[in-house]
Amino acid sequence: MKIRKITCIGAGYVGGPTMSVIAQKNLNVKVTVVDLNQARIDAWNDADLSKLPVYEPGLDSVVAEARGRNLFFSTDVEKAIDEADMIFISVNTPTKTYGKGKGQAADLKFIELCARQIAAVATSDKIVVEKSTLPVRTAEALKSILDNTGNGVNFHILSNPEFLAEGTAVEDLHAPDRVLIGGENQEAIQALVDVYAAWVPTERILTTNLWSSELSKLVANAFLAQRVSSINSISELCEITGANVDEVSRAIGHDSRIGSKFLKASVGFGGSCFQKDILNLVYIARSYNLAAVADYWEQVIILNDHQKTRFAENIIKTLYNTVNGKNIAFLGWAFKKDTNDTRESAAIYVADHLLDEEANVIVYDPKVPAEQIYKDLDYLGTRTPEENRRLVKVVNDPYEALADAHAAAILTEWDEFKDYDWSRIKESMKKPSFVFDGRKLLNSAQLQDLGFVYYAIGE
Ligand code: NAD
Ligand code: UGA
Repeated sequence: MKIRKITCIGAGYVGGPTMSVIAQKNLNVKVTVVDLNQARIDAWNDADLSKLPVYEPGLDSVVAEARGRNLFFSTDVEKAIDEADMIFISVNTPTKTYGKGKGQAADLKFIELCARQIAAVATSDKIVVEKSTLPVRTAEALKSILDNTGNGVNFHILSNPEFLAEGTAVEDLHAPDRVLIGGENQEAIQALVDVYAAWVPTERILTTNLWSSELSKLVANAFLAQRVSSINSISELCEITGANVDEVSRAIGHDSRIGSKFLKASVGFGGSCFQKDILNLVYIARSYNLAAVADYWEQVIILNDHQKTRFAENIIKTLYNTVNGKNIAFLGWAFKKDTNDTRESAAIYVADHLLDEEANVIVYDPKVPAEQIYKDLDYLGTRTPEENRRLVKVVNDPYEALADAHAAAILTEWDEFKDYDWSRIKESMKKPSFVFDGRKLLNSAQLQDLGFVYYAIGE
């Protein structure tokens, strides 16, 4: 079966970049990405590539190459469904905020809506691909909806979870460690293998049954996050024993059985998926009465919350047990460098903690706009939007953020922070001038020579 037309429902951080690369590499396939969000689609279609809704290094040139040739962004969901041979579902699957499983289970309402819409519109056979991260056995529910509400056409369901990381999405898509395809129908599996084989070496395209594929995505994220929590737990021990967490990471990472990646201690992992997917794994384990398994993975989240809290508490304790009315400059708001995404960013929670103590927080992030920062804080509901705007100021110039600050807190590892004129910053800050480095980004010896009181995670 040769795929000629692909539709992707959901033009977000995954759907947009993934489909752009599929279109870039498959010139004979027409790829249409649809979304209900008109503003998002308009931004994907903007002639000014700096306005794309997702900031990712290298994405603008991929979009420039394929858009209008065989890559299209549209809000006409029905037309795109009807004409496609293969439909990717790449909508959001956030943690439920209501009802059974509130705070843990994945909310599958958007997925179900997609399935119902596909069933209602489709007048020819389709391969439906789960690109969103989903609880194991979701394909069963999808199949039931498609078969029972459809027009008598055949649907084959595949699971094809996405492993790209934000900030390196294009790189990850161009040279993935692996592509994973789960399914039951060999012809459908082969059709999707052929799409990826246009640029991915076939030995990197793994095929499994549906349930292994769905579960592997949750497990991959759980293992990655668990490494971060593991090293973060050691960072606390380093701080009181005189060990240095970077040296410990280097020492253990040289063991090829452990490996060196994902051992960078931090103020805590963020991002839209680690917490959501582990909570989902915990929920699934509990729903099968696997209490020990659930408790084991839940600890990864507990430790991550602890890491964010203790970073904020260290700031308060070090500033003589009060930050009331003090200026704390935040360098970075995104959950990691090279992305404008702030979902679950540690910065949000650290700020919230300091705002509870009536600190003034001044934020500079090279890619995150002020509206997003206020939106993130308002979403927590800890205080009124007016209070958030009274206590938090967002600026476009890092030197302005730091002038008159009692302390600087590094929340994101943006490269540019390393190149600032820290001598000039020292002059402009209140004395003693404190730096709390949540990313172990800056050169501690250099900052101490300049007269800063410098604290880094795990040092
Ligand atoms: P996102 O919120 O950026 O994008 C989802 C988009 O789907 C939104 O634009 C929304 O408007 C649209 N949408 C929702 N319901 C729709 C419907 N019925 N019809 C049309 N459009 C609809 O989310 P994302 O970050 O792209 O994540 C999507 C999925 O991919 C999630 O399951 C996530 O867990 C998974 N994932 C994300 C990443 C990542 O780095 N962000 C990586 C791997 C996997
Ligand atoms: C992560 C996974 O790496 C992807 O494979 C997966 O596809 C994606 O989740 C997803 O399912 O959404 P992402 O969250 O974009 O990707 O970014 P990561 O590079 O994994 O970083 C996650 C968080 O962990 C960031 O806050 C980062 O700063 C932190 N981190 C990462 C550390 O604190 N230390 C590390 O050593 C690595």
